[in-house]
Amino acid sequence: MIRHSLTLKDEAATRALGAGIAAALRPGDVVALSGGLGVGKTTLARAIIAALGYAGEVPSPSFAIIEVYDPPAVRLPLVHADFYRLAHPAEAEELGLDDYRDGAVLIAEWPEQAGGFAQEAACLSILLETADEGRRAIVEPGVDWLGRMVWIPR
Ligand SMILES: Nc1ncnc2c1ncn2[C@@H]1O[C@H](COP(=O)(O)OP(=O)(O)O)[C@@H](O)[C@H]1O
Ligand SMILES: [Mg+2]
Repeated sequence: MIRHSLTLKDEAATRALGAGIAAALRPGDVVALSGGLGVGKTTLARAIIAALGYAGEVPSPSFAIIEVYDPPAVRLPLVHADFYRLAHPAEAEELGLDDYRDGAVLIAEWPEQAGGFAQEAACLSILLETADEGRRAIVEPGVDWLGRMVWIPR
């Protein structure tokens, strides 16, 4: 398993990571954002959605659970979900997640609450942690991502 550890010293670094990921995204991808409350999952999701062209405010999906973005407001169809409030992973299907995902990118906060997506080849798993004043991102790409990791600083 390939693993990259990135230091995100401030919110601008988190936004830059989001822009890099956004440039590489294709329909069918999952960006699975793990880590505790306040660690920056929504911040990173907002950066990705903004870099895909969305000019509006991106609400946290913590209440609605699923927010949908469609072209032309974004470069490609996208579902932003926050599974924190799911009582059981099967609820993700009951909400129609599979239909929303068809042809779209999924950005998932609390992915493990929906059963997890790391088994999908197109899943980019990112665990965020606090580190000093900033954050650390542990990035684990599924095999579909291996040829498009150019946004990883080296
Ligand atoms: N790299 C970073 N360094 C320091 N603070 C950050 C960084 N990235 C995000 N933040 C801050 O951390 C908080 C994260 O909130 P949020 O994105 O809502 O977290 P989550 O969705 O994980 O609960 C925000 O106040 C944001 O400004
Ligand atoms: Mg959040």
